[in-house]
Amino acid sequence: MSLSAWKSGGKNFFTTIIRDITKNKQIEKALRESEEKYRTLFEADPDYTILVGLDGVLLDVNPAAERMIGRSKEELIGKHFLKLDIFPKDDLKLLKENFSKLKEHGDTNTYEMRIIDKNGLIRWIQNASTIIKKGNMGYVLEIGSDITERKYAEEEIKSSLKDKEVLLKEIHHRVKNNLQIISSLLDLQSTYVKDDSTAVNVLRESQNRVLSMALIHEMLYQSKDISSIDFSDYIRNLIYSLFTSYGVKTNIKPMISVEETFLNIETSIPLSLLISELVSNSLKYAFPQRKNGEISISLHSQNNHYKLIISDNGVGLPPEIDFKNVKSSLGLRLVNSLVNQLDGTIELDRNHPGTKFIINFKELKYEKRV
Ligand SMILES: Nc1ncnc2c1ncn2[C@@H]1O[C@H](COP(=O)(O)OP(=O)(O)OP(=O)(O)O)[C@@H](O)[C@H]1O
Ligand SMILES: [Mg+2]
Repeated sequence: MSLSAWKSGGKNFFTTIIRDITKNKQIEKALRESEEKYRTLFEADPDYTILVGLDGVLLDVNPAAERMIGRSKEELIGKHFLKLDIFPKDDLKLLKENFSKLKEHGDTNTYEMRIIDKNGLIRWIQNASTIIKKGNMGYVLEIGSDITERKYAEEEIKSSLKDKEVLLKEIHHRVKNNLQIISSLLDLQSTYVKDDSTAVNVLRESQNRVLSMALIHEMLYQSKDISSIDFSDYIRNLIYSLFTSYGVKTNIKPMISVEETFLNIETSIPLSLLISELVSNSLKYAFPQRKNGEISISLHSQNNHYKLIISDNGVGLPPEIDFKNVKSSLGLRLVNSLVNQLDGTIELDRNHPGTKFIINFKELKYEKRV
């Protein structure tokens, strides 16, 4: 309501204007209530919320932010965020960059950062910065929570995993050393039976079997991922060691065609013994009188299905030998039982000049032992 007095012709007049402002009052009340509601939410939020001007100066902070930083609202408001002395010196450059990037791209930016709390301890924060622009005004809203406990738990898990990996590598190393000792013992024993060529051969075969397993353990502790080895690398090493053991010079050539294949230890051990048996046989029997020849090893996979082919272009398996039912020697019997262990199949290609074995298998699943 407004009242005004005026004169006209020596007479006094009053004008009263009455306006109904009920609507205005209602809007004011709604605004006040809404402001109170958001203020309460802001104050009660367990996550910290900080409002920063585009110049980097703090405009408002909620109690969670005061608690986390360990300073009162009065100490914080009006200060530039980089001058708060709460960030580790090494992080300042990155924080500054993040803030400029946010202003440039006008987006939300989520990252993990560190602050030094009032006791001088590092705390990890998961922070989300959002830019809010209204006309020519702008703010940055920083919302975040303390993830220090989670960070420390993560570090602990990582370091315990690392410890276990080191331990496993150590075990593989020891297993390899022990197998090498057994191989040296067999080598020593063969000097006592040097007049008996069968005994020397038996000991050399056993030595190669032990060494082919030792090589797996050696590669496991050298490999980046302790649970598997690149079997193509393994095959190259094994072939080299077998050719050396049988004193092969240049008349027999190894032909290796293997693609990079990562296999776990359950599969690698039987597979390595199997390759060692078949390649040893080719080296021993395929090329009598040191004729020239080739021994091929190929390993390829499709949809987790592996095909291993071991062949030579030598004299071929004697026709009377039924390789699935050999009684008098150990090698081919071992091959059959290793194929079973791999849940695979083995065939002999009789049309191939020389000997050609085709083995199909899948990677064995790791079986829990406890
Ligand atoms: N690649 C091959 N070429 C020609 N003959 C082979 C080949 N592989 C195996 N043989 C023949 O098959 C026989 C059986 O092989 P097997 O591996 O079972 O026994 P081994 O090599 O004589 O003895 P070990 O038990 O030490 O392996 C061999 O004695 C050999 O006569
Ligand atoms: Mg053999």
